[in-house]
Amino acid sequence: MLAIIGGSGLSQLANFEITRRQVIRTPYGEPSGALTFGKIKNHEVIFLARHGYGHTLAPHEINYRANMWALQAQGVVDVVSVASVGGISEEHGPGSIFIPDQIIDYTHGRKATYFEGSEAPVTHVDFTDPYCEKMRQRCMKATLVSGETYVDGGVYAAVQGPRLESRAEINKFERDGANLVGMTGMPEASLARELDLCYAAIAVVVNYAAGRGSSGNGIQFNELSDVIDKSMSRVRLILEHLVEINDD
Ligand code: HPA
Repeated sequence: MLAIIGGSGLSQLANFEITRRQVIRTPYGEPSGALTFGKIKNHEVIFLARHGYGHTLAPHEINYRANMWALQAQGVVDVVSVASVGGISEEHGPGSIFIPDQIIDYTHGRKATYFEGSEAPVTHVDFTDPYCEKMRQRCMKATLVSGETYVDGGVYAAVQGPRLESRAEINKFERDGANLVGMTGMPEASLARELDLCYAAIAVVVNYAAGRGSSGNGIQFNELSDVIDKSMSRVRLILEHLVEINDD
C-alpha cells in the first residue's frame, strides 16, 4: 500500500474518500497524528500530515521514527513524501518541482535510527542512493501526466531549522553540491531505508534560498503561504495520478 506524507501546505488531499482515522501507538512514541485511511479514485492510500493536522510540530519536533514505524505497521511498502523547499540554484525558482536523487544530512540531535540500544543488532544500512528509484520513476511519470515539468534528480540539503539559513550556509551547501534546502528530509529517508520502504520525495521550491534571487535581502516565511498553497494544489493533482501509477 502507498502512504503519502504531506508537508507544509498539504494537510489534506484532493478526492480523498476517507474511510477511517487511526491513532497508532509505537515503541518510539507518538506519530505526528492519526493515520488517515481512504481511497483516491478507488486506490487505497494512507495519509499522514508530517507537522500534525493543525501544523503544530516544528521540523525538529517531529517523531520521524514513530511516523515511519506506524506506516509500516499498517502494511505500507511505498511512501511518497511531499516537501516544500528553498531553491539554491538560480535557474529553478519558486514553483519548480524536483524529484531529488541525493541527500546531504546537516541535521543534528534527531533520533535517526531504529538500530540502537542493547536489544537491536548493530546494522549499517546502504544509503548510496537514498531514494527508491522505482518510486522516483513513478513520481516523475505522475508529474508528467499532470502536464507539469520537473527536474529529474537534485541534491536535498536537510537542515535542522526551524530558523532559515545564512547566506554563507547556502553558499556552502551549493559548494557541497546541493540544489535544494529543506528541514524534514532527514532522518525520514534513512528511517524509510532501515524499514525497507520504497521512499521518494516530490520537492516543490516555494522560495529562493537565503541570499538567492528574490531572497537576496531575506525571506519572510509567512509571506510564502500563497506560493505554498498554489504549489500544493498542483501536487494534489500529481498525487491523484501517482496513486494510479503506483497500483499498475
Ligand atoms: N530553507 C529551509 N527549509 C525550507 C526553505 C528554506 O529556504 N523553504 C522551505 N523550506
